[in-house]
Amino acid sequence: MGSPKYVRPQKHNSWFNVIPVHDFPQLKSPTVPFLDSFVTVEASPEEPGYIVRYEGVHSMQVTVQYGFICVWFGDDLNEPSWPFPVLFDRSFGRDFCIGKPRVFKDTNLLDLIENNGDELHFKTVHRWHSVSISDHTYTDRVFRLKMSGVISYARSSESAVKRTLSRIVPVSDYHQDLAFHGPGFGAGQISTNGGLQAQLVLAFTPIGDNDLRLYLAASVDESILPSWLRALFRLNPFVSLHDLLSRAIVRAGADDTDGDYRIWRYKRSLKDPKLLPGEVDIVRIREWMSQYYLNDFEQPPQPVKSAEQKRWILLGRDEEITAGQVHTFTVAGEEVVAYRASNGEICIFEAHCPHQGAHLGRGGKLEDDCLSCPFHHFYFNTHGEFVGTKPAGNPKPLMKLNPVEHRVADDRIEVFV
Ligand code: FES
Ligand SMILES: [Fe+2]
Repeated sequence: MGSPKYVRPQKHNSWFNVIPVHDFPQLKSPTVPFLDSFVTVEASPEEPGYIVRYEGVHSMQVTVQYGFICVWFGDDLNEPSWPFPVLFDRSFGRDFCIGKPRVFKDTNLLDLIENNGDELHFKTVHRWHSVSISDHTYTDRVFRLKMSGVISYARSSESAVKRTLSRIVPVSDYHQDLAFHGPGFGAGQISTNGGLQAQLVLAFTPIGDNDLRLYLAASVDESILPSWLRALFRLNPFVSLHDLLSRAIVRAGADDTDGDYRIWRYKRSLKDPKLLPGEVDIVRIREWMSQYYLNDFEQPPQPVKSAEQKRWILLGRDEEITAGQVHTFTVAGEEVVAYRASNGEICIFEAHCPHQGAHLGRGGKLEDDCLSCPFHHFYFNTHGEFVGTKPAGNPKPLMKLNPVEHRVADDRIEVFV
């Protein structure tokens, strides 16, 4: 699980957050996980109020922005190649509300950023009613796009309560101008047809060898809300209207990334994904990100097994492959999926979808003998041929699942891997 075939670096030339400022007093130890190591954080009487050292030794350039203690990570820790980015051209005059950190294991920064070139998954994963992503622009250090659609609050949430709520809350027209300032910070300017205006910060830091920590922070423009509502909330001593709405936006963002994480945690990053014509921005995003790789990053060669290195290995018993279910196995380090077609035949394929590498056994479904991928709901027939977004389609040459050679004898299923 989580072994990316196409390795992407976890260390980048970028500004990253360490922790929110308000978490500092509760910090039990001065040590915070950071990249594949840690940093130490201590208070300082000097501006900006904190000293951060990589591995407790190497002092880093520190800035405090949007409620976060941020550091520069790059070839020279104390000498950033560029200043901390200005994320918004105006301020709503209130502090951002910052949610709890979300740690996504087996997820690279690029998984998150690539999603912004992937229009279709907003419908299949996030269950937006409609979506359009446009105007991708790649300038020096900043990548921008516009995103609009019709959404229902929490429609794709894992929580049944929230999904029920999504049927009651009216659908909303949603628009977001999104900018990524290097791999460390995303800035969203949100507006809805209900008149809501908000700013959203996505602050990410790679953690460990292959994990990602994300903080979401939001601030709502209160001044455009009806005056009677603002007056009502001024009587409430517990929570301000600004904080209530800002936290709701943070939670909606968290629900969305949880949906992505159901895919990311099992996905394999493919060097040559079989992208559709409308997905070329994924390639451009990869190119844009590569400018931030540290100078010493080298792509390791991808291991390919020769026929001499392969062996017949027991996968399982014939009766284990029950009808109507997608079964997952790991044999000799290879992940495979197996299912039984309606004629009783067993179909076995490499587990990762050739489109964008999602794991077909983690949320994949069977319909009319076709296997559908959980990411974009593409269907593949019993020969592994791509048949489109419905099970009944004709095979199309764009992509194909890799079949795994297998044999069944005396109730034993063996695979050649
Ligand atoms: S990854 Fe897109 S359909 Fe499988
Ligand atoms: Fe997403």
